[in-house]
Amino acid sequence: MAPGDTHQARPRVIVAADPAALAKTAADRLVARIIANDHRVAICLSGGSSPKLLFELLATDAYRSRIPWDRVHWFIGDERFVPSTDSRNNMAMARKAFLDRCAPPANIHPIDVDAADPNEAARRYESELKSFYGAGQLDPARPLFDVVLMGVGPDGHTASLFPGYPAVEETRHWVTGVPKAHVEPFVPRVSLTLPALASCHEMLFEAGGAGKRAILTRVLEDGEDLPANRARSQGETIWLVDRAALPENFRE
Ligand code: 6PG
Repeated sequence: MAPGDTHQARPRVIVAADPAALAKTAADRLVARIIANDHRVAICLSGGSSPKLLFELLATDAYRSRIPWDRVHWFIGDERFVPSTDSRNNMAMARKAFLDRCAPPANIHPIDVDAADPNEAARRYESELKSFYGAGQLDPARPLFDVVLMGVGPDGHTASLFPGYPAVEETRHWVTGVPKAHVEPFVPRVSLTLPALASCHEMLFEAGGAGKRAILTRVLEDGEDLPANRARSQGETIWLVDRAALPENFRE
């Protein structure tokens, strides 16, 4: 299915009891995908606050000991165009939570927020992704990522693909600049596009807490044409939610 085709199969929904179970289920799925690949592994992390518990779990002995850190590479699906020292920087949160203690520095691939502007940062990241992938075109038989972690915002955005923004429709470039965001934080962004995010074995959305119930109703129950609903893996797409976030009448 081409990205943007809203008549796609419904994604699979996995329900966790609570935030701790949500993070554990996400960590278990991530590790399973990592150890299923005997070669070089590429993980695309999500931003925002939802993945924090998951990231911290990966740094605990129970998970850290199971990950072959030397051959796992870590990317970010979108970035706020703020300095890497700014607490709103997505990769900075991941570094603090686990990457800087666990991953070889060469395996951590941040978006260059020191570039002149978001478009230049996007061009640089696209070039880094293509060099890592070894080709300028994505081959469906050879996904770019093993896992792409995703979140969903209150307006139905995912990564930094906001409803109605041109970036949602971008299919030629792998990474794009987003001059401004219409939700917090109101800063310029850099985001992978739907085709690049789709190039994975598994796309794993993580959404927990009562605050997500309204948007999950629009996405999972009503099937609204929102960026979070357009995003699909060419492999498996999974929505990992906890009970508090599950829409009232959702049938599992
Ligand atoms: C970002 C994210 C964004 C995030 C959602 C959910 O840069 O903000 O990549 O897509 O996943 O906004 O954010 P929370 O997890 O904080 O609710």
